[in-house]
Amino acid sequence: MRLMPGGTVTDLFQRRWSTYRRVVDHDLMEHRALAAATAGAIRHWLAQRSPTAGRPRMADLGCGDLAQLAPLLRELPLEAYTGVDLCADVLPLAAARLEGVAYRRSWCRQDLLAWVLDPAVAAAPAVDLVHTAYAVHHLHDGAKHRFLAGLRSRLAPGGLVLWADVFRASGESRASYLARYTQRILQTWDPLAAAERQQVIDHISAHDHPADRRAIQRAAEACGWQWRWLWRGSHGAEALAMLTPRV
Ligand SMILES: C[S@@+](CC[C@H](N)C(=O)[O-])C[C@H]1O[C@@H](n2cnc3c(N)ncnc32)[C@H](O)[C@@H]1O
Repeated sequence: MRLMPGGTVTDLFQRRWSTYRRVVDHDLMEHRALAAATAGAIRHWLAQRSPTAGRPRMADLGCGDLAQLAPLLRELPLEAYTGVDLCADVLPLAAARLEGVAYRRSWCRQDLLAWVLDPAVAAAPAVDLVHTAYAVHHLHDGAKHRFLAGLRSRLAPGGLVLWADVFRASGESRASYLARYTQRILQTWDPLAAAERQQVIDHISAHDHPADRRAIQRAAEACGWQWRWLWRGSHGAEALAMLTPRV
């Protein structure tokens, strides 16, 4: 069965998780280098944290099955972890990977923007550490701006946001970005069968809206964030940004 190009954003993840699994296992989106950069940033932040600050609460938005992040998460001295994902099927897989850790876990099947704007989340204690990888690019630009503005008040003072994602080059159109990413998939994603490559191309064509690097940094700064690029992949798309509240 071939996924229809106009399917929902979670089709690739809900019905075709094995395709995404192969993308990760073969490092086609540079998850390994990204995981190393993420681990380094979190450890550095933890080391600088005041000893009186208590154990951090973490939220992971678009957590997926945690195949890549679980080894790091299992080592972190957290108070609590919340995994948020629109795709219900991945949450039990993620939960299994954090089985037995010392901190509280909760799982939320929700749109990540809805989570950020949720009054119940606003009423709960603020989170200290937000991680999101390869998920926010599914939001249109206006929604990304609401996400950045809303996230500002979800984060505790001294908190850290790590946003890994695909981004457009400054000034690049979505059409140009999609054309070059499609070429990359067709020319270099050999570990995937032709039908799987087409599923990914259909998915990105219908659902991916990577932010323009310079524009999103400016939008974040206007919302009170300090922005720093921590890692850039070798294809001019994948990257990791660190956002901290500007004081
Ligand atoms: C490409 S996978 C990334 C999974 C994991 N973070 C990683 O880096 O391997 C994207 C994940 O984000 C979820 N997702 C996509 N759009 C979302 C949204 N608007 N709100 C919450 N989750 C979303 C998908 O269901 C999927 O699990």
